[in-house]
Amino acid sequence: MKKIKVALLGAGTVGSQVARILLEDAVSLGQRIGADIELIGIAVRDVTSSRDWNAPASLYTTDAESLIDAADVVIELTGGIEPARTRILRALNAGKSVVSGNKALLAQHGAELQAAAKASGAQLSYEAAVAGAIPILRPLRDSLAGDQIQRVLGIMNGTTNYILDQMDTTGAQFSDALAQAQELGYAEADPTADVEGLDAAAKAAIVASLAFHSEFTLADVHCEGISAITAEDVQAAALDGYVIKLLAICERQGEGINIRVSPTLVPREHPLASVHDAYNAVFVQARDAGELMFYGPGAGGAPTASAVLGDFVSLARRMVLGGSGVPESTYAGLCAVGMDEVVTRFAIGLRVEDKLGVLANVSRIFAEHGVSLQAVRQVKDRSGDSAVIRLVTHRASDISVRRTMAVVDSLESVREIISVVAVEGE
Ligand code: NDP
Ligand code: HSE
Repeated sequence: MKKIKVALLGAGTVGSQVARILLEDAVSLGQRIGADIELIGIAVRDVTSSRDWNAPASLYTTDAESLIDAADVVIELTGGIEPARTRILRALNAGKSVVSGNKALLAQHGAELQAAAKASGAQLSYEAAVAGAIPILRPLRDSLAGDQIQRVLGIMNGTTNYILDQMDTTGAQFSDALAQAQELGYAEADPTADVEGLDAAAKAAIVASLAFHSEFTLADVHCEGISAITAEDVQAAALDGYVIKLLAICERQGEGINIRVSPTLVPREHPLASVHDAYNAVFVQARDAGELMFYGPGAGGAPTASAVLGDFVSLARRMVLGGSGVPESTYAGLCAVGMDEVVTRFAIGLRVEDKLGVLANVSRIFAEHGVSLQAVRQVKDRSGDSAVIRLVTHRASDISVRRTMAVVDSLESVREIISVVAVEGE
């Protein structure tokens, strides 16, 4: 039997689970592949650290480069841009196939890595980079390759979903929920990437590239995180029958593709509203297939390891059979388009002076900008002589709502714009 030597870079939350599975299931994985597999080493920063799962001490090394050079396949689970980028390029340039879960890297340097893989005939797979255990990239790349994707919409970050879900269901404070998410291994090494939406934005860029056969990077994604979401926003949404989710949306917009990540109100009865904890869900709307939903654990060691191992078995099978992997198609060459023409509904919270005519004045400004209101609710603000007005618009363009809000903001009777949040799923 052919032997496939595997180098693992990283033994953190995900890497330690990948090591466990590679060692414990070596025989059955080998049978599925049709080759013996051998984990020849695990590159880490500190060989003395205790791990979630400890492999034999002799496997750990700090010499990642020698390990890569000795391997047939490299699994990169260290994260970050450098040295991950240079190491993956080292492997690909030498014709060694690579599995990675590194969405930050792929969203910024995906085209460079793909080009290196294509040039040497190596394969580059990264199912784990988007939505943890959920198979979403291969369905977009293979199963739906004969269809035309119109829109992808989903919860693609487990940490923020966990935080928002805790705030909604238990009334937890943002910081407590974040600490729990970190403890459970969902968050990135620097959780700012999760909380500020950058992790979901990186995933959205990867998804959009595959879905629309074009090259998109993180810079093409309009990104807003959840750090400004308050307990008051969550409660107000609940009163109106909504739940706040951090949604990633990739959709055709005129001749281009709009890619955005932002906190969004979703009706309670919508399937996305019942995505709890660190679970992820991705809706795909395709011309012929219609609507598909992919749901499952979006983060965590073992679930993400499952996606990594799936990629590994798949590319190792191709290595045994001979022939290189199929490069991704970018023939469409579509461009990213900005937010101006994005049309959706908006929920708006205003703190205003509680006096005659304020609501009428605000409504008039919306009408003057062609933004139609679907619902208006005024509540007494417990904190003094203000009132809180909550408005929900009919579908309107992002730019017209922004222009409206600029004028509303200039009214003397408007003390504060509390929030302007998109509404999806109705
Ligand atoms: P961790 O921070 O838990 O682990 C990182 C590992 O990489 C550690 O073992 C660390 O070594 C090692 N490492 C870091 N830098 C270097 C370096 N320069 N040289 C050698 N080893 C290094 O990360 P995760 O396991 O959470 O994530 C790994 C990757 O998977 C990331 O790209 C992440 O985005 C992605 N991912 C993570 C998910 C999750 O749920 N956690 C889900 C989906 C994808 P040491 O232990 O010695 O410090
Ligand atoms: N930090 C990421 C998340 C890990 O919370 O979704 C999975 O990509």
